[in-house]
Amino acid sequence: MEILSKLSRYAENAIEEENPTVERLTKEGKEISKLNIGDPARFFPTPKYMIDAYIKALKDGRTSYVEPEGIPELRDAVAARYKRMYHKEIDRQSIFITHGVSESLIFLNSMFIDPGDMAVLFKPYYSVCYTGFRVFGGDPILQGYQEDRNWDLDTDELDRKIKENVKAGRMVKYISITNPSNPTGMVLERKTLERIVDIANNNRLVLISDEIYDEVIYNGAKFTSISEIARDVPHIIFNGASKDLDATGFRIGFAIVPGEDKVSDQIRKKMVDYCSMRLCVNTPAQYAVADGINNIKEHAREINVFVKAIEERANFASKLINESEYMHVVPPRGAYYLLPKLDMNRLDVKNDGEFVHKLLEEEQVLLTRGSGFGARGHVRLVALPPKDVLGHAIAKINKFCENHSK
Ligand SMILES: Cc1ncc(COP(=O)(O)O)c(C=O)c1O
Repeated sequence: MEILSKLSRYAENAIEEENPTVERLTKEGKEISKLNIGDPARFFPTPKYMIDAYIKALKDGRTSYVEPEGIPELRDAVAARYKRMYHKEIDRQSIFITHGVSESLIFLNSMFIDPGDMAVLFKPYYSVCYTGFRVFGGDPILQGYQEDRNWDLDTDELDRKIKENVKAGRMVKYISITNPSNPTGMVLERKTLERIVDIANNNRLVLISDEIYDEVIYNGAKFTSISEIARDVPHIIFNGASKDLDATGFRIGFAIVPGEDKVSDQIRKKMVDYCSMRLCVNTPAQYAVADGINNIKEHAREINVFVKAIEERANFASKLINESEYMHVVPPRGAYYLLPKLDMNRLDVKNDGEFVHKLLEEEQVLLTRGSGFGARGHVRLVALPPKDVLGHAIAKINKFCENHSK
């Protein structure tokens, strides 16, 4: 008997797949430069005021189950944040607290997707979002960002592809964007977003916008939240404590469904059911994040220092990469990822997966293969470590390329 479902084969995460090799090399006493995981808290300690709030919540006995959709204090803090930042009135009932955006993604794919249903995902994509969609049987309409246009989008082609599939009788459910993007670091222009809103509207699709890096913006980019422009298109916004608040391990995410239309109403009702299936989210962490969001002064200080450091590190790494004969990168303007393109014609490795594996074995630098994000011939690295670590790692990547040059 085959115990595993056919769809379970899609459950994977390219970011973690070299872990067995990392374990072996570590046992052999080798030190590894890990540039694979976008975890800010490994390089910038979670702010002290949030740690204190977490400890206080524990001491106050906040250790019981709480409301499945999240504690009112946190849902209200999220609503106040959206009022402050994007001038949007969002009521508590439209905000759902989940175990990270990751859990929101699983909930929404499970509630929207029957096997064979379609949704628009942009490529390169954040892999966990793609994986969740495939595990529930989704069949993506993949629309590519154009690297030679600074990762911008061809929205006319997107509209045409959706219409073709609808005409062929396919069920297309939603358009999903990640802005700023993991893995490219691109920030979408307002006019591109407005066009995507129009396309969602004309084709009666739900618009999902993952805005988890909305405060990590630099190099002169301007961020627009879908909440500012979605009008009456049913939309869902993801955000959370992992990136802006530098608290990945707290596992707090938000799904916001603010629309006044029937579809948004249905989604909100179903979200209540999904949230209640897993009882509630970590209680003391919810109190700590409510404090983190409400502590405007402390947060502003922390995020400014953080974004300035990221801008410096990302630009430093981009410059070094673009000085290399073997790779080229579009410098990021948001989040903290770089997705250089490898000159595969000049290298004796088969593909980006082999590049990452051999680089780890030979030079002990850990990257993620671009094909794990739908970007063959690329690798992803994070610009979170200090400049000396980044410089050292990029020098080793260059040495590896020299050793494998054809
Ligand atoms: C675009 C994007 N969305 C969601 C997540 C996961 O967020 P969470 O920690 O809230 O599950 C990540 C993590 O790297 C991400 O890059």
